[in-house]
Formats: sequence, C-alpha cells, structure tokens
Amino acid sequence: MTRRFLVTAALPYSNGRLHVGHIAGAYLPADIYVRYLRATGAEVRFICGSDDNGVAALKTAREEGKPVEELTAFYNDSQRRAFDGLNIRFDIYGGTHQPGFVETHERFSQDFFRKIYDKGLFTKRTSKQLFDVQAQQFLPDRFVKGTCPHCKSENAFGDQCEGCGRTLEQIALLNPVSVLTGTKPELRETKHWYLRLDQLQGKLSQWLASKKDPVSCGAHWRPVVINQSLGRIEAEGLPERAMTRDLTWGVPVPLDDPDAKGKSLYVWFDAPIGYVSFTAALLQRTGAEQYDHWWKSPDCKVVHFIGEDNIVFHAITWPAMMLATHDSDSIQGVVGEYQLPHNVVANCFLNIKFPGKEEEKISKSRGTAVWIEDYLQSFAADPLRYYLTAIAPETQRTAFEFDDFLARNNGELGNALGNFFNRCISFAHKYFEGKVPPAGERDDADRAQLARCREAVEKVGAELEGCHFKAALGEMMALARAGNLYFDQTKPFLSRKTDLAACARAINVCLQTARTLTTLIAPFLPESAEKAATMLGLTDHQTWSAATCELPQGRPLADAVVLFPRLEGETT
Ligand code: MF3
Ligand code: ZN
Repeated sequence: MTRRFLVTAALPYSNGRLHVGHIAGAYLPADIYVRYLRATGAEVRFICGSDDNGVAALKTAREEGKPVEELTAFYNDSQRRAFDGLNIRFDIYGGTHQPGFVETHERFSQDFFRKIYDKGLFTKRTSKQLFDVQAQQFLPDRFVKGTCPHCKSENAFGDQCEGCGRTLEQIALLNPVSVLTGTKPELRETKHWYLRLDQLQGKLSQWLASKKDPVSCGAHWRPVVINQSLGRIEAEGLPERAMTRDLTWGVPVPLDDPDAKGKSLYVWFDAPIGYVSFTAALLQRTGAEQYDHWWKSPDCKVVHFIGEDNIVFHAITWPAMMLATHDSDSIQGVVGEYQLPHNVVANCFLNIKFPGKEEEKISKSRGTAVWIEDYLQSFAADPLRYYLTAIAPETQRTAFEFDDFLARNNGELGNALGNFFNRCISFAHKYFEGKVPPAGERDDADRAQLARCREAVEKVGAELEGCHFKAALGEMMALARAGNLYFDQTKPFLSRKTDLAACARAINVCLQTARTLTTLIAPFLPESAEKAATMLGLTDHQTWSAATCELPQGRPLADAVVLFPRLEGETT
C-alpha cells in the first residue's frame, strides 16, 4: 500500500528575511524528508506559507512605516524566493493574509473556531489586559515587553519569554512596557474566549505519553518534544488560554456577539490552521481530492517540522484544537476527524560564531545573521544544504561558522564525495572509452564493497525514517570514503598496466558505488545528484529501491564535471 504523508514546515512570520537559522531549524530537514519519502514511493504533500496575522507583522510594519498588507506581501515573496534558491520545494507556499489565500484561510479558521465554540470548549471571560493610554489600544502579545516571572529574563513578551521559552499570560509580566510608546500600560477590562485546555488535558497527556515508544507509535519523537510538552502538563497543568485578541489585523472572531467586535483570533490559533487551508488551496488548484483525504484520514501521516520555540504550540495547543473539534472519543481521531500529528520534529536553534569571538545568538538587530538572499548571491544551494545538515542542531544548539562552511565544502564535499565521482568517471573516459567496463569475476574485496553499498542504503534509509538527518548524511559520507578507500586499495592506476581485467573490475565496482551514492545524495544535495545522474546516464536515481541496481556493462558515461568546486571566501 502506498504510504501517504502530509508534511509541513512552520509558517515563517512575514516580517523579515530568512537566515541560516530558519533553514537549519525547520525547512531544510523537512525538504530532505519529503524528497526521501517520495524516493521510497510515498505520496506526499509538502505545505508551507507565511504567518501574516498578529502582532509580529504589525510591529514591523509600524517600524518600517508601511501598511501591514504591503509588508507581509513583500516578505512572503522574499521568503518564497529564498526557499526556491535553496531548492526547498513546497507543493504550495501560501500565506494566512495573502491575496488568493486569505479568503479560504479565514473560512477554515472561523469554521474551526465555531466548531469548538459549539462543543462548549470556549469560555468567555472578562479579564484585565494591558492598555496603552497614549496609543489608545490594548497591547496583545509582543506589543508588551517585560521581565519574565519565571526566569527573570528581561527578554519576555506578552505571549512568550525568549529567555526560558515559556508561554506567558501578559499580566504576569513584571515591569511591563508598551512597545508602541515606551510608556507603562495600565490594566483595563476586556472580554475574550478561552480554550478549555483543562478539559483536554487528560487526552493530551495520554496521547503524548504514547509517543515515548517508537515501536508502538511508529514514529521517532525527539525526547525534547515529549519532555517539554508532557513536562509542562505535569508541572503546571493546562490552564485555559485566550484564543482571541483586541486587534483588527487577523481573522475576525466569527461570533454574533457585541463583545466580539474589533477582535481577531489569536495568531497561534489561526496560523496552524494555515497548514490546512493551504492544503485546501493546493487541492483547489490541482483539482484533486479534498483536504479531508490528507487531514482526516488515519492512513495519512501528518508530520510537522518546527524550531524549538514552537514545541508547545505544535505538541499541545494545536493538537488540543484538533481534539476539541472531535465528535468521537478516540484520542487520535477517527475517519472524518482531524488526525493528530504522527510526529512533531523540532530542532534547537542555530547560533553563529565569528572568528575570534564567542558563539552567539543569530540576531537581526545585532547584525549577526547570515541572510539566505546574500548567501545565494555568491554560492550554490548544495554546499549550504550539506553544511547545515552536517551541523544540524538536532539535539543541542550548534554554531554556523563561515570558515567551517568553506572547509567542509572543500574537504568533505570536494575531496571526499566530489573527487570520488571525478576519479572514477575520468578513469573510465581515459582507459575504457567512456563506458562502464565489464564486471568480470568479482573477488572478495569487490563483493565487500558492493555489500557496503547495500548496507549504506539500509542505514541512510533507516536514519531518514527516524528523522536523524545528520546521522543519515554521515552514513552517506561513510560510503563515499569507503569508495575512495576501495579505489586506493585496488589501485586501478597500477593494474591498468599489469592486469586490465582486474582494473576493469575495480572501476566497475567504483561506478556501482557512484550509482548508489547518486541516489543517497539526492535528498540532501538535489542539484549535485542531477549532475551525478547525468554523468552516469541514470534516470532512476530518485528511486530509493533502485539505488543498488547495477549499471550495465558498456553504459556510456557523460563527461566528468566537478560536482563541488572549491570555494574561497572572505570571512565576514
Ligand atoms: N510564525 C511562527 C514562528 O515563526 C510559526 C508558526 S507555525 C504555525 O515562530 F503552525 F503556527 F503556523
Ligand atoms: Zn522566562
């Protein structure tokens, strides 16, 4: 049976350009996963788009003196181009407030809200919220800054603390200050709709606990995702959370209630629904099946790729929203109900390290970011895809170092992987008329090398199934090194003078290894895989199960091209 997956990558806020940290965090691993799944024959839809609503974009629009629609359209386009340049290929790139998407998105978000409302899982409450007297408005979420009541970091906002990552209720902030005017806000009464997370807590913890065992749940959840979310529930329980805001930029609250006037859905309520509404938009475009087929069918696995600051929203809030719409009592949901994610894959943040300096956070304001647009001016996609996978912050923070990027391109990609292709193919051109030489009678060393190829396919595949991208890349590179070693040890450059049959055998095995590598590199290095496939005359290199299908004797080879040119660069 064909496996089906709906893969998403966190919707980036459309208020800035993308940097290497974004790519390493969610988008690149998601793209690698999707390419791999497709190679195994799975049917996949890969969904992304911008998170346009809420305070983030409003705040930047204010700073840049632009209308918020213009700002979000600009960054939606800039981000789309950056992804494209890195060959991160979504099936659709939408936007929660972009023309062509906003209508569908509002409809889905409002339907979702109404469904939960009808189930009685919202409570309307009067609460005190921070109000900026000078600006004459409430200050939801990031419009207010202060000190975190938990960790005392001064980098806490009205929705979340950047210091410890906890979600916050804004009135808990110590020393709150309005981001709009710098004044001290006062408390005023307002009314909002709160999601009864307390009612869903039992099911959520049961569901999360079931993800601890990869064998029974069939997915490798990273411990940090389970620990952070289950830990949160165990430590604090799940209090009700307001799902509406005093804002007009967003999805209007769909209730016929005077208290709903001038209010929008909380951005973290509507944003994940973007995954669904963009899926629907994609299907409308392609005229194919309904979104239910991907979202409400137990035989489709939904996998979310995110950064560490998004864990609670994807492993608690969003599943809670979906559960709240269910009619059945099943945890996962039955046919026709939203299926809770099969996996939520979170990476840690990427830091950056400049020569002679300490490792530091990537920061736009301090100018320590490496922007994708800038990168793409000078370099191809694959060297960065390689580097960001090799240093992937899968279990802890790691640091981007420009010198290390150059060194790994020249050393690992160039000298190990690229050189292997180059030396085998050039050799075949020089001494075997540019054709795959005969395999002859293979000896133990030949068989051992071919067995290594088969093992590598197994190992890389198993690591990719488990979303261990860095380990998968390591196994692929181990095969490239084994190929070089085999070449060095069988010495075709000597045997060509003494034993041409032995020389042919060795080059044949080398070319079989190159063929396997072409399939193995394809999810990570798609452009280079195409070049490698052209050299070997392959058309089925994107089929995982064909990775060890041997190149026939006599197959003509195209000219050798350098897969990974040496890079020189100034250290910035
Ligand atoms: N915009 C959020 C961020 O960058 C991510 C939103 S993910 C979604 O942190 F699921 F809510 F869309
Ligand atoms: Zn904190």
